[in-house]
Amino acid sequence: MTGASSQNVGPIILLGPPGAGKGTQAKRVSEYYRIPQISTGDILREQGQRGTELGIKAKDIMARGEFVPDELMYGMVADRLRQVDCERGFILDGFPRTPAQAGWLDAFLEHEFFDNVPRSKCLPVVIRIDVDYNLLLRRIAGRRSCPVCARIYNVYLQPPRVADTCDHDGSKLIARDDDREEVIRDRLQRYEVQTRPVAQYYERKARLSAVNGEMPVERVTEEIIRLVENSRREAVGS
Ligand code: AP5
Repeated sequence: MTGASSQNVGPIILLGPPGAGKGTQAKRVSEYYRIPQISTGDILREQGQRGTELGIKAKDIMARGEFVPDELMYGMVADRLRQVDCERGFILDGFPRTPAQAGWLDAFLEHEFFDNVPRSKCLPVVIRIDVDYNLLLRRIAGRRSCPVCARIYNVYLQPPRVADTCDHDGSKLIARDDDREEVIRDRLQRYEVQTRPVAQYYERKARLSAVNGEMPVERVTEEIIRLVENSRREAVGS
């Protein structure tokens, strides 16, 4: 399944609690449209592995399941969105995560991004992935990921063909530091308090859609693409 690689797609934002499938879906939608997936969690983990100043600051905060301070996030996201591969569009996974970040992103798009890339000017399509709490717990506990290509698996729900091994490049799969049982509930609680209001922020602006994230992975992807296509058709028609 691939989309047109010359089409302007614009910003796509995936919201949802830890374990909802944002990373899984962002990767698939990014491959479909051939636009970059910008996962703030992946970028921070990569910075941590490289031992950069930001990575060192973020590592312990992330292991505790807390949020990295907004001021550190803004520079990192702005640098990434300024790269030329974002011009046709991009898919954000894990950002914005607070209403302040959502306001910052709107201002950045309006006052910098669209000024520099006017042809890509379209409002973000914001899609929340909904999944029941108990299923989230199971998904997070079973998650394993590839340290090389970042593909995501699940020992219960989406196992690799060979145990503990990436189907794509044969690397040994790893579990994340923040997927420990004692941290998972805190992360889900923090989502309710700090990130759910982000969905309300976009709802008030009539920009929010939701998908049922409990369907099979392929069905969720189809639904997300349908929502993006509808939104872009409406934008052209208006
Ligand atoms: P981040 O990496 O963004 O983690 P998260 O938001 O907690 O989300 P997850 O990665 O846990 O879940 P997901 O929704 O991507 O689910 P996945 O696709 O893996 O952030 C980590 C940390 O970084 C934060 O806690 C914070 O410290 C920091 N951070 C990041 N961004 C920040 C920001 N903006 N501000 C401040 N701090 C920030 O799927 C989960 C599992 O379910 C997988 O095993 C998968 O195989 C399986 N699965 C997925 N979909 C399905 C399906 N349809 N059917 C069956 N199984 C499925």
